[in-house]
Amino acid sequence: MVSHKSVALVMQLSALLSVLLGFCGSGRLSIACLELERIGLMKLKAAFNLPNGSALPLWLDDQGDCCRWEGVRCHNISMRVTKLLLNDTRDSRLGPWSLNSSLFLPFEELEVLDLGFNQLTGLKLQAVDVSFNHLAGDSLSAIWSMASLKALSIAGNQLGDSIFQGLCQLKGLEELDASYNEFVSSIPPCIQNMTSLYALDLHRNHFGGNIPSSLFANLKSLQYISLSGKAFEGSFSLAALTNNSRLEVFDLANNYHHLNITTEDPLHAPSAQLKILRLSDCALNEPRGVIPTFLRDQHELRLLDLSHNNMSGAFPSWLLENNTKLEASKLSNNAFSGSFSFNSSTASNVDIQLIDVSSNFIDGELPVSIGSSFPNSAFINMSRNVIRGGIPSSLGDMRLLTLLDLSDNDFIGELPESFLRKCQHLEVLKLSKNNLSGEILPRTANLTKLHALSLDSNKFSGVISPGLLNSPGLHFLDVSNNFLSGTVPSWIGDSESLENLILSYNSLEGPSPLSFCKLNLKLLCLAANGFGPTIPSCANVSMLLHLSLGSNHLTGPFPQFLSDASSIVTLDLINNEYSGKIPKWIGSFPNLQALLLKGNNFECLIPHELCQLKNMSIMDLSNNSLSGPIPSCLSTLDFGNLRVLGAFCTLSISNASASMIYKFNSKVSFFVENAVETAYTDDQLVEVKFISKSRLESYRGSILEYMSGLDLSCNNLSGSIPPEIGYMINLLILNLSNNHLLGPIPSTFFGLKQIESLDLSYNGLTGKIPSQLTELSFLSIFTVAHNNLSGQTPERKNQFATFDEKSYEGNIFLCGLPLESCNTSGQSPLTPTIPDQKEDFSFREAFAWSFAGSYVVAFLGTVAFLFISSHYRTIMFNFFYRQIICFY
Ligand SMILES: *[C@@H]1O[C@H](CO)[C@@H](O)[C@H](O)[C@H]1NC(C)=O
Ligand SMILES: *[C@@H]1O[C@H](CO)[C@@H](O)[C@H](O)[C@H]1NC(C)=O
Ligand SMILES: *[C@@H]1O[C@H](CO)[C@@H](O)[C@H](O)[C@H]1NC(C)=O
Ligand SMILES: *[C@@H]1O[C@H](CO)[C@@H](O)[C@H](O)[C@H]1NC(C)=O
Ligand SMILES: *[C@@H]1O[C@H](CO)[C@@H](O)[C@H](O)[C@H]1NC(C)=O
Ligand SMILES: *[C@@H]1O[C@H](CO)[C@@H](O)[C@H](O)[C@H]1NC(C)=O
Ligand SMILES: *[C@@H]1O[C@H](CO)[C@@H](O)[C@H](O)[C@H]1NC(C)=O
Ligand SMILES: *[C@@H]1O[C@H](CO)[C@@H](O)[C@H](O)[C@H]1NC(C)=O
Ligand SMILES: *[C@@H]1O[C@H](CO)[C@@H](O)[C@H](O)[C@H]1NC(C)=O
Repeated sequence: MVSHKSVALVMQLSALLSVLLGFCGSGRLSIACLELERIGLMKLKAAFNLPNGSALPLWLDDQGDCCRWEGVRCHNISMRVTKLLLNDTRDSRLGPWSLNSSLFLPFEELEVLDLGFNQLTGLKLQAVDVSFNHLAGDSLSAIWSMASLKALSIAGNQLGDSIFQGLCQLKGLEELDASYNEFVSSIPPCIQNMTSLYALDLHRNHFGGNIPSSLFANLKSLQYISLSGKAFEGSFSLAALTNNSRLEVFDLANNYHHLNITTEDPLHAPSAQLKILRLSDCALNEPRGVIPTFLRDQHELRLLDLSHNNMSGAFPSWLLENNTKLEASKLSNNAFSGSFSFNSSTASNVDIQLIDVSSNFIDGELPVSIGSSFPNSAFINMSRNVIRGGIPSSLGDMRLLTLLDLSDNDFIGELPESFLRKCQHLEVLKLSKNNLSGEILPRTANLTKLHALSLDSNKFSGVISPGLLNSPGLHFLDVSNNFLSGTVPSWIGDSESLENLILSYNSLEGPSPLSFCKLNLKLLCLAANGFGPTIPSCANVSMLLHLSLGSNHLTGPFPQFLSDASSIVTLDLINNEYSGKIPKWIGSFPNLQALLLKGNNFECLIPHELCQLKNMSIMDLSNNSLSGPIPSCLSTLDFGNLRVLGAFCTLSISNASASMIYKFNSKVSFFVENAVETAYTDDQLVEVKFISKSRLESYRGSILEYMSGLDLSCNNLSGSIPPEIGYMINLLILNLSNNHLLGPIPSTFFGLKQIESLDLSYNGLTGKIPSQLTELSFLSIFTVAHNNLSGQTPERKNQFATFDEKSYEGNIFLCGLPLESCNTSGQSPLTPTIPDQKEDFSFREAFAWSFAGSYVVAFLGTVAFLFISSHYRTIMFNFFYRQIICFY
């Protein structure tokens, strides 16, 4: 029986041999065919000559280079057989015969096979693998007639339901892999007639409908079935598996809660001892969410994935205790509570390599002996729970630990020394959002393989510790939002692998050391510290994508060294003491999407070169001393939503479990590997792709995708508002307040179709408010207060029904609701008042927050949600409207 596995084995073997032989061969003979292929050719010759023929007389066992044999052609470099021209070879007197197709397996690079005129009655093909091609249905018709076929992989093509008719002819199939195609209807009933099937893989299609329970009643030989991925609906009871006693792999993951799975049939439970069970994201046993009872009788489990369900109750420690063969256990994103505990005297699960219990409600402290209970664990993710207490020093006994994510819990205390000294395989350590204290990595730390370290949002203090130097491969360091003090040490320049450095929100100070310039950073975040007065001008910025220097004490002209930052995407210099002109060269950064210069002393004209930044999403030049007109060409900028991941220091180590899987993949047995791989192509494709590119970083700043805005407020801009501004159809936020703008509000403004907040207050605008503005359906903040507008206020309809007199006050000749009505003798309804500075600025600050927000928010985390919809945006604005006092 030729199975997939044996085919694959042969292939691998020959690949291995070819490497070995190719290597040795190059030392001795200059050109020769591969030994494996020469043996294969001799077998082929024998088959052609059965029982007593004499064809191919010159194919001789001892005659070296088979590439020179008749009918054989080889690749001129790899020396692999590419063509076998065996037309009219067999002695016709020998009569009809058939050829075992596995004879061709050694020839991996075979391109042309000519078997014409050989009286063949059958090729007896048993295995066909045409996976991952671009095949459409009609190209497979030859396959459907191969009645002898036992193993077929058509995975990864663009096949649809039209092939079912052909496929149904292959009644003898034992293995069928039709994953990664485009089937849309339900599972074809004829599959149930393929009673020899023991492996059926249909995952990642678009099947709809139910999973028929008769499928399992008919396919009693099934060992492996995968139906995962965005497909099935309705409900399915595992009672259907009562008679499938050979089942080893049952994969129904990621049906995105369209499929209700029940496991609690009191009379029928799966009879098999499963090795792999994946029921993630499956509305398991809803609404009560009990953990499947039959798991208590499963003792062979290697991989168990019950993540993304709503299971509740006490954390099932017994799963880890009683399943001593378990290699990977994924229980993340459920509602398990209680502590992660087990009977430490008996429990020692030496096989377990992966534990993911993230995103539950697990509390209590971790068992002191956790390290000796799972001595071979490599990947542990317990993030997003409410675990208290210290980090057990027995973690140091997990010598193979590669990834540890304990972020977003309530851990306290210092990092245990034995852990920092002994876990020398650790590559990713993520402890963000806890209450950990002490030095970040003391000198005794010896995490020699560390690649990414996130200690942000804790209570670490002291200086940036030289323990980091023992991790020469460190690529990502986030220690933001702690209590670190002192200067950036000069040895930082020796961390040559460092590409992402996030030191924001600490109390670091002083000039940065010159050695800094040795680093080739992609992301540098120094915001909200006391750095100043300058950044060394030697800084190497040619690779830099994101730079955040906001809220420090930096002075002088716009830093000239940034003119080399040709790749830069986001640049934040807000709230420093920079002065002088905005340089023209800034227009030459083709990728720049966010330019935040708010709160400096920049002066003179807004350079027209800014109009070359076609990809701009957020431009904040507010609170400077810029003068002159608003360049009308700014309207040609895109101002689409910010689509850059990682802007404003929102880079973080990827979803830890994704990188776990990435690693895990290469380690474990066929079944596990197969299932694990599919686990992460479904819902985390993007992450995985990203990881495979640059391994560890990913981005959590997706909120920023929703931002786009132009803020020129609080400057000395003059002239009229260019009508072209109204053409910025993507703009969400426009703030031109507190300038000296004159003339009318352009009627083109009704073209700002996406606008959510529009502030034109505190200028000298005249004329009427264009009545079409009432058509701006997303507008939730609007003010034209304190101008010289006249005439009627816009009709109180749509969004405009919600704006009160504060939106209009301070315009002597403006009348109509919500101000007083117009027909009172043309007199102003409101006496001009001295602007209430506090109110004014608080309002303005609210706008400014739309920008500052985009950069602080990612840091504040929860606040970030408020940016998602305009509804919430309004709430947030109102909040700041009331709360914030501007220090202008
Ligand atoms: C092969 O064997 C058959 C009988 O076994 C005989 O009739 C025939 O002549 C043989 N052919 C050759 C080429 O020796
Ligand atoms: C190998 O064959 C290709 C064409 O099949 C030819 O272009 C190439 O030059 C050949 N190389 C050698 C080393 O003969
Ligand atoms: C195959 O052999 C037959 C009979 O000898 C001959 O007519 C035909 O042209 C050959 N075809 C090729 C492609 O060599
Ligand atoms: C074909 O060859 C393979 C490998 O030698 C063997 O396992 C298989 O049983 C053969 N099939 C037939 C039909 O003889
Ligand atoms: C399954 O096989 C039976 C008996 O051969 C046949 O009557 C039936 O039509 C087949 N069903 C499908 C869906 O092919
Ligand atoms: C299992 O087999 C028994 C005996 O053949 C049968 O009565 C029962 O209906 C089967 N159960 C399922 C779920 O197929
Ligand atoms: C799944 O179960 C829930 C709760 O029992 C129910 O509300 C829902 O309609 C079910 N969905 C399907 C597709 O059966
Ligand atoms: C775990 O295994 C032990 C020993 O076999 C058994 O006594 C215990 O009931 C099992 N626990 C669960 C929850 O099944
Ligand atoms: C750190 O670990 C390496 C081996 O990975 C070892 O050679 C070295 O001595 C250790 N250093 C310290 C300070 O323990």
